[in-house]
Amino acid sequence: MSSQAQAPVAVIVLAAGAGTRMKSTKPKIMHEIAGRSMVSHALHAASALEPSNLVAVVRHQRDLVAEHILNEFPQITIADQDEIPGTGRAVEQGLEALDEGLEGTVVVTYGDVPLLTSEVLGELVATHDAQGNAVTVLTTELDDPSGYGRILRDEAGDVVGIREQKDASEAELAIREINSGIYAFDAAMLRAALKEVTIENAQREKYLTDVLAIARRNGGRVATAQISDRWQIEGANDRVQVSRLARIYNERRCEYWMREGVTIIDPSSTWIDAEVVLSQDVTLKPGTQLHGRTAVGTGAIIGPDSTLTNVMVGQNAVVKRTDATDARIGAAATVGPFTYLRPGTELGADGKIGAFYETKNATIGRGSKLSHLGYVGDAEVGEFTNIGCGNITANYDGEKKHRTKIGSHVRTSSNTVFVAPVEIGDGAYTGAGAVVRKNVPAGALALSVAPQRNSEGWTLAKRPGSSSADAAFKASLDSSATE
Ligand code: UD1
Ligand code: CA
Repeated sequence: MSSQAQAPVAVIVLAAGAGTRMKSTKPKIMHEIAGRSMVSHALHAASALEPSNLVAVVRHQRDLVAEHILNEFPQITIADQDEIPGTGRAVEQGLEALDEGLEGTVVVTYGDVPLLTSEVLGELVATHDAQGNAVTVLTTELDDPSGYGRILRDEAGDVVGIREQKDASEAELAIREINSGIYAFDAAMLRAALKEVTIENAQREKYLTDVLAIARRNGGRVATAQISDRWQIEGANDRVQVSRLARIYNERRCEYWMREGVTIIDPSSTWIDAEVVLSQDVTLKPGTQLHGRTAVGTGAIIGPDSTLTNVMVGQNAVVKRTDATDARIGAAATVGPFTYLRPGTELGADGKIGAFYETKNATIGRGSKLSHLGYVGDAEVGEFTNIGCGNITANYDGEKKHRTKIGSHVRTSSNTVFVAPVEIGDGAYTGAGAVVRKNVPAGALALSVAPQRNSEGWTLAKRPGSSSADAAFKASLDSSATE
């Protein structure tokens, strides 16, 4: 919260609108930007003001929206808007959900304005408090103000009201200062003024904006707080606007992290979700997407072309061309390229999961290496073990999954198949192509392949006239010549 601002008595977030232009079965405000729903962005900004009451006004797809909001903000008050339309009615019903004698500052904001920061809200409240206003409205000047309510001022420059686009005269339409829809109100004044608001307008809606003229008429001071950063007050009505706001939000996140000491080679192809945490001297290469609660330790290098969702990456780890979800990568470990870490993968410090590997529900100990071409699932691998090329844990018998347990300092040869459930003791070896169906004791070499038998002259006898037969014939001449 901005240090100079008093905590408001309530923040009311309007979220009752239908959002039809999204053309979605999902409520508009539940569409996401940077891994967070738009309404969650709005509520994060609102709750940072530490209001005594946080209220969301809902109506469209009410149950879905309320459940979504309560899931993340269990302390919130959900207020239902009835069939009377308009922002004024929405705020009235938000207030009705709270104590009648509410005193102090009430902030109103929207659930579909995702880039608004708590800093701007805090400054709005600080201005409101410092000036002793009845209403302070957040405004900006736009080259193209169409669609927005216009700020009306008298000759002295004082705010006298707001005119909606649909009710405006030619002269009023030319006004470039617009209403963001974000305000600080004196609680008692707001409650009283809303009683006077009618639906006598072009849209037959109860306009919140009418409160300004009423407050002024009743002797209250009405003022503006201006903001030049228009993106902070921009709402999202369709998917084009959602994507534009997502890009701008992402640019801001990238800039934030660069200033915190993260190297981002190409911010335009790097996507960092809201809740991601990065450390100093992390490097993000082009095509990196960090989602969910991903956290990256100091000095780690991620990318190019890597997508990490809820992944903990240790210090100095290197992760290239990797898709990973719900995984942990230890300090100084290396992953990739072309590696698929599925949920439950835990790679220890200094470990390696190399090219063309898939892992799932697997714990790989410190210093162990799964270098190339394989699958390890439902498995536990000890420390400093080397898993050879092309090894596979056959964890699924068609009905159930079984576990493979491999000890420390184990060396497995290429193309070993572990038929789970099976255990390999510390320091054991396997031979190339071994199909390990029985437990291997510590220190043993497991061989399962039948001894090799060579049928001499097979090609000449069985493939006469083929190029292989010709080559074999020539080789036999050469070898007899050298004998
Ligand atoms: C409103 C303002 C306008 C301002 C604009 C900024 C009014 C009358 N007009 O326009 O001056 O420039 O916002 O974007 O306030 N909502 C409800 N219940 C309702 C109606 C709306 O909860 O009955 C919510 C919507 O979900 C949305 C917000 O209020 O989050 C704004 O609604 P919208 O219809 O987009 O704004 P306008 O009324 O057109
Ligand atoms: Ca409207």
